[in-house]
Amino acid sequence: MHIDPLEKKWAAIALGIAGLFVTVILASALFHGIHAPSHVETIDSASLHLSAEFAEDKLGIEEGANGNITVRIVAGRYGFYPQDIVLPTETPLTFRLVSQDVIHGVHIPMTNMSTMIVPGYVAEVKTVLHHPGAYPLLCNEYCGMGHAHMWNNIKVIS
Ligand code: CUA
Repeated sequence: MHIDPLEKKWAAIALGIAGLFVTVILASALFHGIHAPSHVETIDSASLHLSAEFAEDKLGIEEGANGNITVRIVAGRYGFYPQDIVLPTETPLTFRLVSQDVIHGVHIPMTNMSTMIVPGYVAEVKTVLHHPGAYPLLCNEYCGMGHAHMWNNIKVIS
């Protein structure tokens, strides 16, 4: 079978590029681990109420020694717990969110606080809120019939 030399050349270039992609994927998996480059931390969604961090009395805000604030929230059909959270402006915030059932999303409109909450994992978002006001913290991932009613109240004060 005759193959035109020009076609051979381009076939070699195409294979070379495909090989390069595979090499880059394998090399990054080898040196960085095979997962998204974000914070990855697992948790047992079925026993959150028994966990050291997400038991009911640990939810809400916790001020660290350095003045930073950690906000712990449990998402479940159809609400975020606790229901009301008051946060200061211009303070480093670390949101730590878990789901007790299905995939939920979380978003505070007009801020960069937005992520997906996957059961079995702790979702972590670090942000600073600049504008005082009342905001809803919304579920932005369809999670069932009550999805549209899934939110809590964030009050930001300066
Ligand atoms: Cu939770 Cu949509």
